[in-house]
Amino acid sequence: MVKISVIGCGYLGAVHAACMAELGHEVVGVDVVEHQVELLSEGRAPFFEPGLPELLTSALGTGRLRFTTDPAQAAGATVHFVCVGTPQRKGEMAADLTYVDAAVDSLLPLLAPGDVVVGKSTVPVGTAERLAQRVHGAQPGAVLVWNPEFLREGKAVADTLHPDRLVYGVPDGEQGQHAVARLDEVYAATIADGTPRLVGDVASAQLVKVAANSFLATKISFINAMAELCEASGADVTFLADAIGMDDRIGRRFLNAGLGFGGGCLPKDIRAFMARAGELGVDQALTFLREVDAINMRRRVRMVDLAREELGGSIQGRRIAVLGASFKPDSDDVRDSPALSVSAQLALQGADVVVTDPEAIANAQRKWPDLRFAADVEDTLRGAELVLVLTEWPEYVSLDPVEVAGLVRDRRVLDGRNCLDAEKWRAAGWTYRALGRR
Ligand code: UDX
Repeated sequence: MVKISVIGCGYLGAVHAACMAELGHEVVGVDVVEHQVELLSEGRAPFFEPGLPELLTSALGTGRLRFTTDPAQAAGATVHFVCVGTPQRKGEMAADLTYVDAAVDSLLPLLAPGDVVVGKSTVPVGTAERLAQRVHGAQPGAVLVWNPEFLREGKAVADTLHPDRLVYGVPDGEQGQHAVARLDEVYAATIADGTPRLVGDVASAQLVKVAANSFLATKISFINAMAELCEASGADVTFLADAIGMDDRIGRRFLNAGLGFGGGCLPKDIRAFMARAGELGVDQALTFLREVDAINMRRRVRMVDLAREELGGSIQGRRIAVLGASFKPDSDDVRDSPALSVSAQLALQGADVVVTDPEAIANAQRKWPDLRFAADVEDTLRGAELVLVLTEWPEYVSLDPVEVAGLVRDRRVLDGRNCLDAEKWRAAGWTYRALGRR
């Protein structure tokens, strides 16, 4: 059993804290947001994440997990995970490191010899080296290492308990070896399950995370670029994805064409990566990411254009039903959500838009107070002249086109995620169109 502190209890930290307690460790989670700490302490997740409430309840029940707003409570822990956010800076591409700096600063007075500070946040390469100096300055017997987190929202619990790999970035020498031994103790159960663990230097470990996210974003934008080609040439992007995906050097995963990527990670990570490359004097190495970003943003514009086309050239006053507000299913996260950005654009251009989502309405409403929301799919569809499916929640994918036909004014559907069964919808009398398909 290791005594652990987790600084920052958002999407990453809350899940990490609960999972570490589940693995048998004694964990204190620290966050500055009082309401968040209150909810977590009651076993309630402040955001929608399947499996997290159950895990919190069981971990709190063992007495091994607690949450607090008092940073001093991290004293006594020997491994401190830094799990705060690194959002995009307002009006800039670079990451805002204020929270990471504050988190490490809050630990400095508490550190004892032998303590290991473990960065998990996604940071520009070079950040860890800077923070390591501060840690070393405050407590020469403590060490800072990097251990990036690859969890996906919606699958965060499984990804934390059973990751594809563990990556440790540690300094050379004895302190580095000590940190590896401590992390091995923390992750003993995961390692025993056969999870591969890679030990490298601190710079590489920071890069692994942004490189992985850049690759995933590139893969999505690649298939969305192919979708543009398909639209122009009368080809079908889902057929193309299936066919090229069968080459196991390519792989079918992350080749789903549609509205593109959003969320709190991929968009801001590729931008911060480009900004960092510029600072390092190698901006040319990542100019392709500018294109990845541009292709991604173009999909949203295309969706709005397609809606206008479908409605005969004008969307002014036209009733459009939007299914989906979150950036992807199984999440209530609306950060940089393609679905909401399309909805807002349509509304701005004068359409009468109603948006629904199984989990994200409250968050969406806070961010876009001028948009109209409905809790119920039926209310959303009633009287619609056009239906847009913008997030592939299972309940939308499995809608019966015959059943819902009676609700709408016109049977027109645009599938922004290539998730509906086109034949079934056409057979029920709907005009079905999707991005990248005939
Ligand atoms: C991502 C990484 O996957 C994860 O490893 C990292 O730790 C954090 O960032 P996440 O943001 O939760 O995770 O979502 P992800 O499942 O990667 O999806 C990102 C976006 O890409 C979503 O908007 C999704 O709809 C979109 N996407 C994904 C596609 O458009 N097509 C695909 O084929 C796959």
